[in-house]
Amino acid sequence: MSLFITFEGPDGSGKSTQIKLLSEYLQARGERVLVTREPGGTVVGEQIREVVLSARNQTIQPATEALLFSAARAQIVAEVIQPALRAGIIVLCDRYADSTLAYQGYGLGMDLDALRAIIRFATGGLAPDLTFYVDVPVEVGLARRQRGETNRLDQKAIAYHARVRAGFLELVKAEPGRWVGIDGTQTIEQVQKQIRGEVERRLQSADSR
Ligand code: TYD
Repeated sequence: MSLFITFEGPDGSGKSTQIKLLSEYLQARGERVLVTREPGGTVVGEQIREVVLSARNQTIQPATEALLFSAARAQIVAEVIQPALRAGIIVLCDRYADSTLAYQGYGLGMDLDALRAIIRFATGGLAPDLTFYVDVPVEVGLARRQRGETNRLDQKAIAYHARVRAGFLELVKAEPGRWVGIDGTQTIEQVQKQIRGEVERRLQSADSR
């Protein structure tokens, strides 16, 4: 059955590891699964990703940034996500429209309603069935990131990342039916157990419908 699941969280929350583990678990259970990431996930989208995340592009404007993320999203929705969902595949997406609201909206202070209109235009209104928010305090996330490669957005001030995290927490509160908040400071195994439990519940309630 098709299910559109997105993963959100501050940088360094460990989403990508969790997505990989969930994908392996669902495949072992006999489900067809597709994993994608934003920005990127298509040939066009990966090129946009390069532009928007490059440390060279320090002059990029907030509106440009919001539109580039949205352009990459328009491409992946039409080219990858919608066809997969129509084919009954479970789609796991590493970030989606909520990242635009958190980073460009709460983080950069862009108008949330304007961003929602752009998101609707880009996605044709496609919203996730379920969104996991893997929460880690800003300092923990950034410290984890420092160990790896950092991109232009990682290099921004702590205050920006704190606004992003507070924004995510507001989004979770505003739409509790879609979001599942998880404490990302737990072990990888503990976080995965919670994620699997929730996905199992959704699959079972869909099966019994
Ligand atoms: P990435 O290296 O994929 O980071 P992560 O592993 O944390 O997802 O970089 C994506 C960055 O882009 C991340 O800092 C969040 C940011 N972003 C936005 O600012 N707006 C968006 O709409 C999206 C999708 C991502």
